[in-house]
Amino acid sequence: MALVPGRDILAAARRDQYGVGAFNTNDMEITQAIVEAAEAKRSPVLIALSEGGLKYGGAELPKLVIDMAREASVPVAVHLDHGSSYASCLRAIRLGFTSVMIDKSHEEEDVNVRETARVVEAAHAVGVTVEAEIGRLGGVEEHVVVAEEDAILTKPDEAQRFMEASGADYLAVAIGTSHGANKGTGRPYIDHARIRDIASRLPHPLVMHGASGVPEDLVRRLNAAGGELADASGIHEDDVRQAVTEGIAKINTDTDLRLAFTTRVREVLRDDPTQFDPRKILGPARDEMRAVVEARMDVFGSTGRADGWTAG
Ligand code: G3H
Ligand code: 13P
Ligand code: ZN
Repeated sequence: MALVPGRDILAAARRDQYGVGAFNTNDMEITQAIVEAAEAKRSPVLIALSEGGLKYGGAELPKLVIDMAREASVPVAVHLDHGSSYASCLRAIRLGFTSVMIDKSHEEEDVNVRETARVVEAAHAVGVTVEAEIGRLGGVEEHVVVAEEDAILTKPDEAQRFMEASGADYLAVAIGTSHGANKGTGRPYIDHARIRDIASRLPHPLVMHGASGVPEDLVRRLNAAGGELADASGIHEDDVRQAVTEGIAKINTDTDLRLAFTTRVREVLRDDPTQFDPRKILGPARDEMRAVVEARMDVFGSTGRADGWTAG
């Protein structure tokens, strides 16, 4: 089973109407949490590394991630998250990634098409598949939450034109989500009609960035253990479930893992100030992240899908 192109996983998910998580990793423990959860839940999964993650993890991290993906008993794709350039995507492809995102969503449409098409040509030549983005999320992309501002949400006609011209395999859409732990006040607005409109024009798997749920319980525990996270809010599980029925197939989650990790580390150190064995600190954090990944897989509907799985 093991390491497969991203499109094989995501096209199967769109075909059978379930979502697959793309979980960001930055170290061994996070990667183990993701792979162990996927194997326990019998779920396909994408392991995502950002350019920041690659810088942090050095030469060893991608080797470890790809090795674990190869050994896994479920389908796994190793994905470059928010690749900023052709060179960055090519580097990931050379490292053995099976999926890359080229994110030129801040450029004019013609530049985005041209740069995406360049990456598609290089990636497809070696069996790697490509995510592109149209529209702009809030959070890390804009530094403000701009979820309800129509001008930056993905325009369905532009999405259709873009996918035909670029040849990308899956498309990240701006539909009201934003990166990070502060996605707006109250329940963030998700433009479901927009997802349905885009999906009615495109057979491609659609991608939801900024999809973390920011669970209230984790935030409460984090703050009770000395954290100071204010105004936290995430995407409601029902919005994710509905989005999956509407065409979202790839669901990006990073913040929830960061919250789980930090909450558990804070709790362990608070509860036992004499503790200084890294394994006794990072082990519980890994278990907490694994539980988060497993819960997300149930919400996405990917649990059990690895058994009898066929590429889409
Ligand atoms: O969308 C961004 C991901 O959460 C990765 O964040 O660039 O800080 O690794 P990063
Ligand atoms: P969150 O910040 O909601 O986890 O989103 C992560 C993401 O979109 C990575 O590309
Ligand atoms: Zn993202």
